[in-house]
Amino acid sequence: MPPFKLLFVCLGNICRSPAADGVMNRLVKEAGLLDQIHIDSAGTAGWHAGKHADPRMRKAGAERGYDFSHIARQVRAEDLAHYDLILVMDDQNRRDLSALDPQRLHDAKIRHFCEFCTRHSEREVPDPYYGGDSGFQHVIDLMEDGCAGILLEIQRRLAQ
Ligand code: 4NP
Repeated sequence: MPPFKLLFVCLGNICRSPAADGVMNRLVKEAGLLDQIHIDSAGTAGWHAGKHADPRMRKAGAERGYDFSHIARQVRAEDLAHYDLILVMDDQNRRDLSALDPQRLHDAKIRHFCEFCTRHSEREVPDPYYGGDSGFQHVIDLMEDGCAGILLEIQRRLAQ
């Protein structure tokens, strides 16, 4: 069976989505499913393409034992066809992806990350870029919650 392909999307691909990528990677590794689930992340904007994640995000991750080593890239229209499940962090991300898919062929694959959280009630993952250190810690809290739910959803689909 081909691997399940999962894409996390935010604006810059240097804070939220690389954190999601790193947290999910650890969960999938612990579940022994790295060969069955392929994880990537991308940004709707290309400003930071080719760069490492924001040092504040990497530091917050390192404090909890994560290695957020993703190199940023901009999302492409082909990604919408390629991936099986695409998780956006906020409403603007979703609108920006829809602009890449005017016929809305891939709408059903695009879901809000926060739909999968069970311990947090936010609708969107707040952008930590212009805030203080606590915003980066909060992003990881949300990622640990939502990624657990996403893993359950993928395991359910893989079992079908
Ligand atoms: P991200 O955060 O979308 O979580 O990666 C941001 C990164 C960069 C900028 C905004 C948000 N920026 O304006 O450069």
